[in-house]
Amino acid sequence: MTRGKIIGTGSFVPERILSNDELQLIVDTSDEWIIRRTGIKERRIASKVKDESTADLATQAGLKAIEMAGVTSSDLDMVIVGTVTPDRQFPSAGCMIQSKIGAFKAAAFDVSAGCSGFLYGLTMAHNAIKAETAELILVLGVERLSTIVNWQDRSTCVLLGDGAGAVVLSASGNGRGIMSTHLQSDGTFWDLLYSSYERSLLPQSLECIDLKPFQLKMEGNRLFKRAVGCLSEIASRALRQNNLSSKDISIVIPHQANIRIIMAMAENLGIPMEKVYTNLDRYGNTSSASIPIALDEANRQGLLKDGDLVLMASFGAGLTWGAAIIEWAAC
Ligand code: COA
Repeated sequence: MTRGKIIGTGSFVPERILSNDELQLIVDTSDEWIIRRTGIKERRIASKVKDESTADLATQAGLKAIEMAGVTSSDLDMVIVGTVTPDRQFPSAGCMIQSKIGAFKAAAFDVSAGCSGFLYGLTMAHNAIKAETAELILVLGVERLSTIVNWQDRSTCVLLGDGAGAVVLSASGNGRGIMSTHLQSDGTFWDLLYSSYERSLLPQSLECIDLKPFQLKMEGNRLFKRAVGCLSEIASRALRQNNLSSKDISIVIPHQANIRIIMAMAENLGIPMEKVYTNLDRYGNTSSASIPIALDEANRQGLLKDGDLVLMASFGAGLTWGAAIIEWAAC
């Protein structure tokens, strides 16, 4: 059966590094606390004056993936973007990126699924390829979380960062590619992580200006426990569906929210941390972008070999969570 196969990866992060030491000057925190509780040492912050809008970041990542894939933008059938921080409410980041890269025959759109946006987009792309409604698709995860962070809230502003990652998916030639994807959500817990911007409030009263509309709110502790459970459960489900054991997995590319969440998930699955790729020490939590950035880094470092089984797992606002297993074909 035709599968989606990744034939190119790319990523791009803003130039500006914001270290834990600098954050100590903004909120009551310490480098020691942030590293011990999260594993994060620094994150990247986008700047509008340096042309680092959401669409700009994604365009850079997408062009790298397209170059590696050896295809041209005009051949793309779809551009799918996981993001919760598009530059505008509309049009979509997908359409802005389409225009910047010249993907003129593509259908372009965004997927809003919190930190799971990339895996949701990858699933839609894989399904379109299986249904033979598309042959070549650019899937991106991109965020500028710095634009919605409350920089006075130490419990969230230390966690997040900006960046973009991308893959080009094509119909598989030699049978290798995505083995399965798995998605789930539970809106009952939407209020564990959300943006305080509520559209219906805006026309009614100018008082809403005081609400500081776009700020991110999070109940970290309760989210932490759900993240570990959901990630472990959906990764186990992905293994079961493919009759695989955790020993068969060559490398895990998890969502990069907190090193303690990743370690707990790996322990639950019985996968040693040596098989888990992490880069959150350098980027923090980049939401939808975290998995494709990590995948691109692992790929460019030569850590992904032909035939390797790659497990990806994500968890985020919604709540949403997801997993995918890929039989890797070198690119
Ligand atoms: N610096 C110093 N102290 C901080 C702090 C910071 N940046 N942030 C919170 N604290 C304090 C709290 O105020 C609290 O103090 P108190 O005991 O005096 O009340 C104490 O540290 C413990 O807070 P708590 O929230 O229980 O810490 P924690 O161990 O749960 O770690 C998170 C907090 C946010 C790092 C953790 O809960 C987490 O990572 N949650 C999941 C995040 C996540 O996955 N988000 C996105 C999903 S994609």
